[in-house]
Amino acid sequence: MSERFYITTAIDYVNGRPHLGHAYEKVITDVIARSRRSLGEQVFFLTGLDEHGQKVQQAAAAEGREPQVYCDDIARAFRELATSLNLTLDDFVRTTESRHRTVVQAILAKLHREGRFRVGTYEGWYSPKEETFLTEKDRLPDGSFPAVYGQVNPLVESNYFFPLQPYQQWLIDHIESHPDFVYPDYRRNEVLGFLKKEPLEDLCISRPKSRLAWGIPLPFDPDYVTYVWFDALTNYVTVPASMGDATAAGPIGLPVDPGAPSLWPAIHVIGKDILKFHAVYWPIMLHAAGIPIPRQILAHGWWQKDGQKLSKSTGNVVDPHVVINEWGVDAFRYYLVRELDIGPDGNWTDSGFSARYHAELANGLGNLVNRSLKMLKSYRAGRIPAPSTDLASAAAGAAEAVAKAYRAYELQGALVAAWELVDRANKFVEETAPFKLAKDPSQAARLDEILYSLVESCRILAVLLWPVIPETAGKIYAQLGSPGVPDSFASSAWGGLQEGQMVGEPLPLFPRKDAPVKK
Ligand code: MSP
Repeated sequence: MSERFYITTAIDYVNGRPHLGHAYEKVITDVIARSRRSLGEQVFFLTGLDEHGQKVQQAAAAEGREPQVYCDDIARAFRELATSLNLTLDDFVRTTESRHRTVVQAILAKLHREGRFRVGTYEGWYSPKEETFLTEKDRLPDGSFPAVYGQVNPLVESNYFFPLQPYQQWLIDHIESHPDFVYPDYRRNEVLGFLKKEPLEDLCISRPKSRLAWGIPLPFDPDYVTYVWFDALTNYVTVPASMGDATAAGPIGLPVDPGAPSLWPAIHVIGKDILKFHAVYWPIMLHAAGIPIPRQILAHGWWQKDGQKLSKSTGNVVDPHVVINEWGVDAFRYYLVRELDIGPDGNWTDSGFSARYHAELANGLGNLVNRSLKMLKSYRAGRIPAPSTDLASAAAGAAEAVAKAYRAYELQGALVAAWELVDRANKFVEETAPFKLAKDPSQAARLDEILYSLVESCRILAVLLWPVIPETAGKIYAQLGSPGVPDSFASSAWGGLQEGQMVGEPLPLFPRKDAPVKK
């Protein structure tokens, strides 16, 4: 089978309900997935849930529920979010599924068989909250441990360890010879800095069942479950391997299906906080298991609201469902992508959201489509005139810039480039004043040209913007009377609208919400 563009998000912890950070990551990944499909690639988009470990066990216990019942309940909320965000998922993986357990155990069994683990005694400090072993180096100058670790307890425990040092130089060489492996480049430098600083410590890959029961049992020692990060990272291989993709299933001895799609290796979209797990531990796990390492890791920044950390306890939150219900899913998707490029941190403000909605969506794109269609309705009874070329080069320039930006993961740049066409076309209306020409029968041919250029620009914008605002792009096509869905970049070539096509009803795409209430 032909090779796919296989893209994944981090799998979310189910110890709370979905929030803005989760939604952002899923939206940008969906925009990349849709844009690649539109550009002609075969895409596979995976997301899912991280359901094992102490955090989840504790969250379930706090509600007095069985962990699996608790997980099933929260999983519903995450799936609902995926639906309301309009994600084009190809699969949804949960780490409590048996297909996942099979793959995790296959990798562990192979690494164990080949002598990659050692048994050791851990003596030190442990943070149950972060499921992390701490050392004296982690203490603050005043002797305490940082607050993120919660209550820190002394611990002596026998466990399985995975020595990472034998792979350290190999990984440095790989990252240095593959500049795109971690995007953006300042995150890549961060990883290299970490790798070059000191020898990697052995990774503890087990937890005694007596202390933590909620996990995948080690296939070679039933007294232990798998460390939650080893379990979680493997989700990315679970899906291709259980479908029989030879690259993923073959090296770990799982059945290969020659008809399965060729998915592995993946492109991972993650937040900056989990970069070390994805750019250091994960490639080493895979390499040791004989599986090719990921194609690329895209690390995005973190959102705050009003300059403060998002936090349930202080109520500083943005509930994606509330925003979507009030403003529509496309306004939400648009703001996330337009406001924050993949890399830096972002800041949500309600006033910034409303400002972009009104200036860019309502007055910009919405107004262009609405007035172009209305003029065509009133001056030409809704019939598309013969093709003209006034805005053809502006549209071609925008299409080229937008495609280039999508390919480079510059999603914000794609919107900026598309809005150059929105602004150009709106300005074209002011410059050519079709409402004046309509009163002068000798200008009929010129008016035809102007109207064609306007509605054709609207059609092309639907194609360019479909990855970000698919619902609106579909509405633009429907209002133009164009059949199908604007999901293929190839149809952004000028001249798609045919003379004689009848447009539909012009309805506002983004109704203003700040208009004074009429008495
Ligand atoms: N379960 C782990 C990931 C395992 S991947 C093999 C995890 N889960 S999480 O629910 O805490 O976070 C999921 C994703 O959401 C991460 O990529 C994280 O960076 C992202 N975000 C969580 N809060 C965020 C913001 N405030 N802003 C942007 N993204 C953030 O980590």
